[in-house]
Amino acid sequence: MTKSATTAASNLKFEPGHDMSFGEGVSHFRHGFAESGLFTDEKLAELIDSYPREYYMITTMSGAGEQPEWRNGDFNGASGKFVLDAIREGHLWLCLRRLDLVAPEIDRLVNDAFAEIEARNPALKTSRHRSSLLISSPEARVLYHSDIPMVALWHVRGRKRVWLYDADNPKHLPDETLEGVVLRETEEEIHFDPAWDAEAAAIDLEPGWALSWPQNAPHRVDNLDSLNVSITTDYYTPAAQRKYGVYYANGLMRRRLGWQPRSTATDGIGALAKCAAAVAMKKLGVHRQAERDMMQSFVLDLSQPGAIDELPPSEWRPILQT
Ligand SMILES: [Fe+2]
Repeated sequence: MTKSATTAASNLKFEPGHDMSFGEGVSHFRHGFAESGLFTDEKLAELIDSYPREYYMITTMSGAGEQPEWRNGDFNGASGKFVLDAIREGHLWLCLRRLDLVAPEIDRLVNDAFAEIEARNPALKTSRHRSSLLISSPEARVLYHSDIPMVALWHVRGRKRVWLYDADNPKHLPDETLEGVVLRETEEEIHFDPAWDAEAAAIDLEPGWALSWPQNAPHRVDNLDSLNVSITTDYYTPAAQRKYGVYYANGLMRRRLGWQPRSTATDGIGALAKCAAAVAMKKLGVHRQAERDMMQSFVLDLSQPGAIDELPPSEWRPILQT
């Protein structure tokens, strides 16, 4: 029997020892997604043309050494080809969310790769996969932040440097800050001191390489040259789900009840109770008013690829995201 085309496209090859660290530690490995032919300029332009408004975010960010800033905008009716040119020429970062709904053929590549990783490591169980396609400018940056779920970054085109910091170092990520991230109070950017770079791992991602790291590990990304194309996949393991529940419940106890949470343990009966409480509180919408609103503050300038038109604050609008 021959291997199916999609299995061949995932084509995973791990750095020594890294296949067993996927889902827990740092895992750096090769994939063959580009061989699918789904990431050419033409295919990407077609995909952008088809994207529903509620599933994309186009963002611009401050340069190195400036006050950290991360703002959302709108295509302003531009074609997919124009959007791609704007990203190539500008200082932009495009996130196409919900590939499962809009680009199932890309989502399938990722799901096949996860199936292959779990087949290598039967103790690993992953769930709730959500993949997005990221297309970003040659010198775009993603500022220091922490993501709620586990993340795998599948790099396809261009080069980027990922700076990874220690999730368990309270200097890099205090518990109260992580609670704010989990409760979605912050715009993801969190306090950062460039001196911490000395303690970070800097990993250059070449096309065809993927990286996954410990849950909530703060990170930032510098594109190194040319247009960058990657897929980012959020996912959970049972341990990641428990950690989420513990920080969600601790965050609410601290904010609503004035308690100082003493334990961040993610095993044992206390952690399970906190997870159950977190699910119940989330369903009841206990903390919904404090969740951030995503505002649109610029549109693409249709006369010049890469330029943006700033909107006055009176014209800022919340961006519908579902
Ligand atoms: Fe991230």
